[in-house]
Amino acid sequence: MPFHALVFTPATTHVGEASFLQRLWELAGALHPATVHFPIAAVVMAALALLLAWKYKGSFEDIAFFCLMIAAMSSLVAAVMGWALAPQHGYSGVFATNTHTQVIVLLHRWGGSLLAILLVVTAVLAIRARRQKLGSRVWKAGTLTAAALAALVGHWGGSLTHGDLLGDAVSRLLDPESASSVEHADTPPESAGIVEPPPASFGFDSDIRPILERSCLSCHGPAKQKSGYRLDAKAPAFAGGEIGQSTGRAAIVPGESHASQLFLMISATEDDFDAEVYPMPPKADQRLDRQQIEAIRSWIDAGAAWPEGLVLESSE
Ligand code: HEC
Repeated sequence: MPFHALVFTPATTHVGEASFLQRLWELAGALHPATVHFPIAAVVMAALALLLAWKYKGSFEDIAFFCLMIAAMSSLVAAVMGWALAPQHGYSGVFATNTHTQVIVLLHRWGGSLLAILLVVTAVLAIRARRQKLGSRVWKAGTLTAAALAALVGHWGGSLTHGDLLGDAVSRLLDPESASSVEHADTPPESAGIVEPPPASFGFDSDIRPILERSCLSCHGPAKQKSGYRLDAKAPAFAGGEIGQSTGRAAIVPGESHASQLFLMISATEDDFDAEVYPMPPKADQRLDRQQIEAIRSWIDAGAAWPEGLVLESSE
């Protein structure tokens, strides 16, 4: 597949479908979190050495130069890996499910790319300045700017995986009253562990129906029934399709979200699908966000009420 398709297409849900190149690209993405701290440390070290060089001269400038070289090379690698990781999390830019996450992804992606470019340009200028015995002002300024940018980009990256821990901690520090009521209304689906309760006035018509109509009926409605499964009327929606028949697991078991094929599939991720549980919807950038998944969980656990005779209509 062409390169741009690799970058922008979400990871496929079926291992068998992915080409070797694609799986290699996914591996590169998986290594982004492991690699990305290295250039951050290197550029911060470079900046620190520069501050010391300013006061003490001596060999600190050489150390800064060395750290800058390392930072430039490793940031380039980490940035490329970041582009490989984004589609795997459904972070394909404008398609991410919630706007707060979209903005952070955008900032992190382009901030990180800009940082890598800035570091490489600065490194080239530093090499040239040393060879031709020019002044060092430009590359020093570039290094300090890059260190500041690294702090920002790192913070955005951290918010994607951990939620805004820093912002929350700071607001708690300044206002202890808010400690017990920190809002996570817009935390990205990936922020594991933070589960917001469904809204108080919660019901099939207001909360569940719109999700199914918007995200599921295009493949499980009157027009198409993927896996022989239809989700627009109560009886077939509860019964399940071909997978359900082979596993003996109904799609919706009132009161038991964890025994329900539908819940297992909407809450599955790329990492934990097996022969019976594929993440739904299949495309990573169309998955439900955490709040929607929690709403469906609560609805099933509360007995999965479905008004008699109600037939859903696709709203795509
Ligand atoms: C783009 C098409 C598509 C969309 C959208 C989609 N699905 Fe699926 N669904 C499939 C396919 C394909 C399968 C068969 C599993 C496989 O082989 O990947 C499936 C299977 C299922 C099954 C298993 C049924 C069975 O017992 O065989 C459930 C449950 C399910 N989907 C629920 C959902 C829900 C809930 C949504 C919306 C949140 C959804 N799907 C959105 C394509 C889709």
